[in-house]
Amino acid sequence: MTVQKTSRELYEDYKAKMQKIADVRNAMAILSWDQETYLPEKGAGFRGQQLTTLSTIAHELFTEDALGTLLKELSSRSDLSATEQKNIALSLEDYEKQRKYPASFVAELSSATNAAYHAWIRARKENNFAVFEPLLSKMVALKRRETDILGYEAHPYDALLNEYEKGADVSMLDTIFRDVKESLLPLLQKIALQDAPDKQFLNRHYPKDAQWEFGLNLLKAMGYDFKAGRQDVSEHPFTTSFNPQDVRVTTRIDEQDLGNMTWSCIHEGGHALYEQGLPTEEYGLPCGEAASLGIHESQSRLWENNVGRSLIFWQHHYGKLQGIFRSSLQAVPLNDFYQAINLVQPSLIRTEADELTYHFHVMIRYEIEKGLIEGSLQTKDLRDTWNQYYLDYLQVEVPDDMKGVLQDIHWSHGSFGYFPTYSLGSFYAAQLFTTAKKQIPGLENAIASGAYGSLLQWLRENIHRYGRFYTSNELCEKVTSEKLNFRYFLEYAREKFGGIYQL
Ligand code: CO
Repeated sequence: MTVQKTSRELYEDYKAKMQKIADVRNAMAILSWDQETYLPEKGAGFRGQQLTTLSTIAHELFTEDALGTLLKELSSRSDLSATEQKNIALSLEDYEKQRKYPASFVAELSSATNAAYHAWIRARKENNFAVFEPLLSKMVALKRRETDILGYEAHPYDALLNEYEKGADVSMLDTIFRDVKESLLPLLQKIALQDAPDKQFLNRHYPKDAQWEFGLNLLKAMGYDFKAGRQDVSEHPFTTSFNPQDVRVTTRIDEQDLGNMTWSCIHEGGHALYEQGLPTEEYGLPCGEAASLGIHESQSRLWENNVGRSLIFWQHHYGKLQGIFRSSLQAVPLNDFYQAINLVQPSLIRTEADELTYHFHVMIRYEIEKGLIEGSLQTKDLRDTWNQYYLDYLQVEVPDDMKGVLQDIHWSHGSFGYFPTYSLGSFYAAQLFTTAKKQIPGLENAIASGAYGSLLQWLRENIHRYGRFYTSNELCEKVTSEKLNFRYFLEYAREKFGGIYQL
């Protein structure tokens, strides 16, 4: 007779298996971090092999039959805590999703991704979308097959979106981007009629070391724990976490552009505070992971824009900044600085866009992705469609593919359904920040005096500590008493930019 294990014992088995998988994945994350920061040129070859090996091990561990049996047994047990039951339910969901993929499809997707990525690099060098197009076409075909593998109810794109933002779907996004069009376009048109503030002084000479030092001080002020993280330099700024006690950020410094470093530091700092605030005791388990990409981005955008581009934030920091960069900023009054850092101007490149026009960049990619996945748009027509959208929504002519359809890496990675989370992040941020202002007495005075402890504490208690326990919309509703509502972003935008442009 076999002795039945108790739920406690089974849960400990599950936890041990999941932590082992997390250890492998985090070893991969460290190798990837190293690849982006310190890896010497010749190390790239074996590094690719090392990452592939670890990725295979993690995949094998997570899809083994024994884990499935354990998860199914545990999901029938009712004597576990709510968090434990949630972990089991989410792990089982993740497990069943992984098991849906036939091995042949995984291999095909992996080699197509590799080929598409290299074609994208080559296409950028030659500034010619045609070099990338056949590979992208193949990628889209595979992604369409993936939607069938994963399954969906209303729209195939929902299946892909679900990977990054569980609970979001085409009908939700269509509503949100319709609001973007109907209410942000008129605001943009009014702004376009006003004189644009001067921002030339942001492109004076800003020495590297001084920028680096200033960025570190911003991170410290925000509450980023340097005993549980560090900052380094990389080509593209990013945040990576190996566990809540080792969360790293990177930045990029351009001596001719103060803004680049400043807001990327604050942005990545926001991501990092979220990771440092996830519950350590849930390491390796779903409740120790971020809720979704949209919620992750809400944390970075809240700090970057709602806090870091506000007048009250710079009331505290601007004097210090002027002291550091005397020759560039001494003669520039605070209000001119504030207007310059919030300049609204339609442009070609998403990552350089301002807070308002940014969402048109995302909307365009969303419309294109939806079309490609549902089959109403073909990759051979993509360049023309792209250029037409930019003309229609932002009134800008796309001069070449580099500044157009080839600018983002996402499609070459096969990441379809990712872009919308950028906009969702800003909209969640506006709604969360409105609630924070209501619930934290004196928050604006605190920000004006450079004290962010109460805000960080509020985010820790209301967002960070839950991990994946709630979906993004559940979390939003729990914290703000309603589902995501674009109205909050619109109110924020009207108030802020109405003030700057005297509308
Ligand atoms: Co981000």
